[in-house]
Amino acid sequence: MRKKIAAANWKMNCTLQQAEDLLNKLAAVETHLSNEKISIIGVPYPYLLLAKEKLQTKENMFVAAQNCYTKKSGAYTGEISAEMLQSMNIPFVIIGHSERREYFNETNAMLAEKINIALEYKLQPIFCCGEALSIREAGSQNSFVENQLKESLFHLSEEQILQIVIAYEPIWAIGTGKTASNEQAQEMHQHIRNVLANKYGTSVAEKISILYGGSVKGNNAKELFAQKDVDGGLVGGASLNADEFTTIINSL
Ligand code: PGA
Repeated sequence: MRKKIAAANWKMNCTLQQAEDLLNKLAAVETHLSNEKISIIGVPYPYLLLAKEKLQTKENMFVAAQNCYTKKSGAYTGEISAEMLQSMNIPFVIIGHSERREYFNETNAMLAEKINIALEYKLQPIFCCGEALSIREAGSQNSFVENQLKESLFHLSEEQILQIVIAYEPIWAIGTGKTASNEQAQEMHQHIRNVLANKYGTSVAEKISILYGGSVKGNNAKELFAQKDVDGGLVGGASLNADEFTTIINSL
């Protein structure tokens, strides 16, 4: 069985005090998490250790970094390595968020390198893909997303691809309040699973969790997560509110 996942992406939000407050609330909430239903909290780098400490007694709730660099170590001022994250026992890292692609010029080829180094240091990547509005309007979203997967993931072995969580996040739905419809989400998730099946076989594709991201809220999570190929969500804005994110977790 593939895992159901409610992942939070705080992005560049929260002061230390706000982060502490939100983590305290998350540590106290009642959730129905289990081995098969997990939550992952993607916090800014300065709060990784705090998040680990605050959530340490919270079973099946894990901490993620939002990025890492392509290189092992060295003179790359301001960057964070996969090895550092591993040394802090951070289990997950978000790779290739559309904001990284857009504002920091991260290409599919660069993301392939990030995936490689993350796996080398035993981090589980949450790999983001998804099309801009103009691509959807032109009707070429399927081939666009397929190409993102091919160029960043398809060099991986079967064993390696099984470590990847995929997050489909249509750019036009991120932070806009305009969620993809249940049908649009299911259609793309099924497409992604087919693309994975063509490359790695059905039994591998069936084991990979594919999350939906883009204006997931407490009031739409349940129906999105009920779609056959939607295995949970990657949540930005709504993850900054503990009550709303708890509703999302409990929609898994
Ligand atoms: P949003 O962001 O939930 O605020 O739309 C999702 C994301 O970018 O991961």
